[in-house]
Amino acid sequence: MKATAIAPSNIAFIKYWGKKNKRLRLPTNGSISMNLSNLQTTTTVEFSPRFKNDEVIIDGEKDINKTDRVIKHLDRIRKIANLNDRAKVVSKNNFPSDTGLSSSASAFAALTLAGISAAGINMSKKELSILARQGSGSACRSIPDGFVEWLDGETSDTSYAVSLYPPDYWHIADVVAIISNEKKEVSSTGGQEIVKSSPFFLTRLNHMRDKIEKLKLFLRERNFRQFGELIEAEALELHAIMITSQPSLIYWLPETVIIMKLVKKLRKGGLPVYFTINTGQDVHLIVEQKNIQRLLKKLKLIRGIKNLIVNYPAGGAKLTENHLF
Ligand code: DP6
Repeated sequence: MKATAIAPSNIAFIKYWGKKNKRLRLPTNGSISMNLSNLQTTTTVEFSPRFKNDEVIIDGEKDINKTDRVIKHLDRIRKIANLNDRAKVVSKNNFPSDTGLSSSASAFAALTLAGISAAGINMSKKELSILARQGSGSACRSIPDGFVEWLDGETSDTSYAVSLYPPDYWHIADVVAIISNEKKEVSSTGGQEIVKSSPFFLTRLNHMRDKIEKLKLFLRERNFRQFGELIEAEALELHAIMITSQPSLIYWLPETVIIMKLVKKLRKGGLPVYFTINTGQDVHLIVEQKNIQRLLKKLKLIRGIKNLIVNYPAGGAKLTENHLF
């Protein structure tokens, strides 16, 4: 049977960085995110006795490193479905992968939903989220709709993401300023392995629960200023951990810093906008939808921005009949 799923990427406002169980991808802390309307992966999976081997084609290419991780996830699905058939997987991103735009989140959410459906299994969103998490942690947050919380959990069954609010709850946007399409030097998975080498990691963990509660309150109140201040401080804290890990991880490029400084200047000039940054050089600018055009006008003056992608809050992973093969 063949099935196709489309899943959004997501931007974390409170970040997942560090695992208490590497194999199961149980995070050291919970996280909060928003699904992104314009950064998507579409994946078709077919299981069939006709196939001799698993075949994985991502953005038109067969990449051995990525294939291994996908096959491991197919094995999880085969185990659940009690299936021995090999699979063909074709996947397409509508954005550059491996640059820090969280392609693993949308990729493993789409693979999970398409794979489980192709195997003829029905799963709840909670079960799908638990399974997606094992492929890539952030992928568990791309299963439910809109604004999402990943409950860190002590066991695999208690570590999954739930929707806090639907996409239309709050009219904010994530304008992604793409600075470079170069692949990142150290993957998120690799970076997380050295997180404990930062002298600040424990401090971060100690105030995490408090931070999550605060962010949920600002979300509930739709308090954009306090929400923005908190997510910007959180992104800087994440990068302080990365920069002080051993070996240090410096994902920023000069243009990243130029945009960070511009954001502060724009705020002083009366435009409420805040930044957040993941494992990469690109900057996510969080802004109220009514101010998108004003922001875009300012960003278009900055040399070094290769592309701007405007994202609205989006629904989670869903099935489609538009198969890729
Ligand atoms: C900085 O989910 O890519 O984007 O579980 O090893 O696949 P793995 O890591 P991944 O890490 C995402 C890190 C982040 C923060 C976040 O999205 O919460």
